[in-house]
Amino acid sequence: MTTADYSEKIPNNVDLHEDRRLQRALESWQPNFLNWWESMGPTLPTEDVYLRTAVNVGREGWAHFGHVAMRDYRWGIFLAERDQKRTIGFGQHKGEPAWQQVPGEYRADLQRLIVIQGDTEPASVEQQRNLGATAPSLYDLRNLFQVNVEEGRHLWAMVYLLHAYFGRQGREEAEELLHRNSGSAEAPRILGAFNEETPDWLSFYMFTYFTDRDGKYQLGTLKESGFDPLSRTCEFMLKEEAHHMMVGTTGVDRVVERTAQVMVENDTDDAAALGVIPLPVIQKYLNFHYSVSLDLFGSETSTNVANYFTAGLKGRWLEERRRDDHKLGDDSIMVDSLTPEGELGQTEVSALTGLNTDLRREYIADCEGGVKRWNRILADAGLPQRVRLPHVAFNRKVGAFSGIEATPEGEILSTAEWERRKGQWLPTDTDKTFIRSLMRPVHERGKIAAWIAPPRQGINGKPFDYDYVHLS
Ligand SMILES: [Fe+2]
Ligand SMILES: [Fe+2]
Repeated sequence: MTTADYSEKIPNNVDLHEDRRLQRALESWQPNFLNWWESMGPTLPTEDVYLRTAVNVGREGWAHFGHVAMRDYRWGIFLAERDQKRTIGFGQHKGEPAWQQVPGEYRADLQRLIVIQGDTEPASVEQQRNLGATAPSLYDLRNLFQVNVEEGRHLWAMVYLLHAYFGRQGREEAEELLHRNSGSAEAPRILGAFNEETPDWLSFYMFTYFTDRDGKYQLGTLKESGFDPLSRTCEFMLKEEAHHMMVGTTGVDRVVERTAQVMVENDTDDAAALGVIPLPVIQKYLNFHYSVSLDLFGSETSTNVANYFTAGLKGRWLEERRRDDHKLGDDSIMVDSLTPEGELGQTEVSALTGLNTDLRREYIADCEGGVKRWNRILADAGLPQRVRLPHVAFNRKVGAFSGIEATPEGEILSTAEWERRKGQWLPTDTDKTFIRSLMRPVHERGKIAAWIAPPRQGINGKPFDYDYVHLS
């Protein structure tokens, strides 16, 4: 597979020039994408940004780094290399050759899966569009823009599939992906978490930790798909996602580290008075982003998802590492549920209908990793405080616990009591106002805001004080 030709209008490794019709269709979508980027993308005016651009899909040297004007970023179409011998790894078609075309009977389902994934990509760009104005450093500003342009490229990835494999309906869906907008009253984004605001940088780090990580798991299941072009697209997207995870993980690290440092230096718990973010507020933001991200996994049981699995459309996280028959006909799983008495409990269901729970468990185990890191930072600073993940029943709008209210410890509350106490666990207006008051931009090379520690490393071997962004 060759490096993409960047003199082409749409850089790609899918031999787009061999299919004139498809090329023309995508070229006519391109100006609409650019209009969307101009009107809904980052608002801070910049001259250029030190960005990574995908140029290849190999293990090494797949990206090029350099200063580019964001409008001129080369959003390309990249599929991971094709494995000629790939077979479907699960479901009723297990062992059959992976599909290079959409099977007629699965057309509607596959299109739906691609549209839902595609809808999240531009949504996060919209949610984050104003953050540049309050970036804590040029390094962070650059990372924000990197995430933004790559989410834009992920939109391209899904639009390519829609155009290439789903005909007129696919082209219409591609247009709709630009017309729905995050938080819009008339045409909101499809999933709840993608209509929430990302108004400050603590939210941004929590979002890239918890919500982008949901994306990682969704892409992981689509990477298993029997529809080979979808699988190859997602495989390459996951490569880019790793950086988004890093931004979230180290972003929260640095907030916790700075707060701990100031608390220890001043021998006080009153972090707010010293201009850093109090640990209880960090915990509240964590509670919020974790609980809305759990909602993205859908209900504990789902016959749709069971059907997707059996059909070979959407697998499990690391399907090939599972030691079972990959069909799950007779297996069962325990899933969260409300007991007839209205208490938190579990029920046994068929493994197929419980697949959302299976994926969510993988995700939760991964999230525990972040909590461990942040607690290690606190322990290393000599502080007794710890952060933790709230109970799965906490603040849920989807699934078994959407009808009840519970504390982060998993104790059921009446609605009245929830209303009275939720400010202890979720960011209040006062918390949000305080966080916003800290969000003053530091756009000077080598400088950083007082509420966050500098990163241990720069980008691509560059130092922290590199000129990552030139503002205009
Ligand atoms: Fe993405
Ligand atoms: Fe992402």
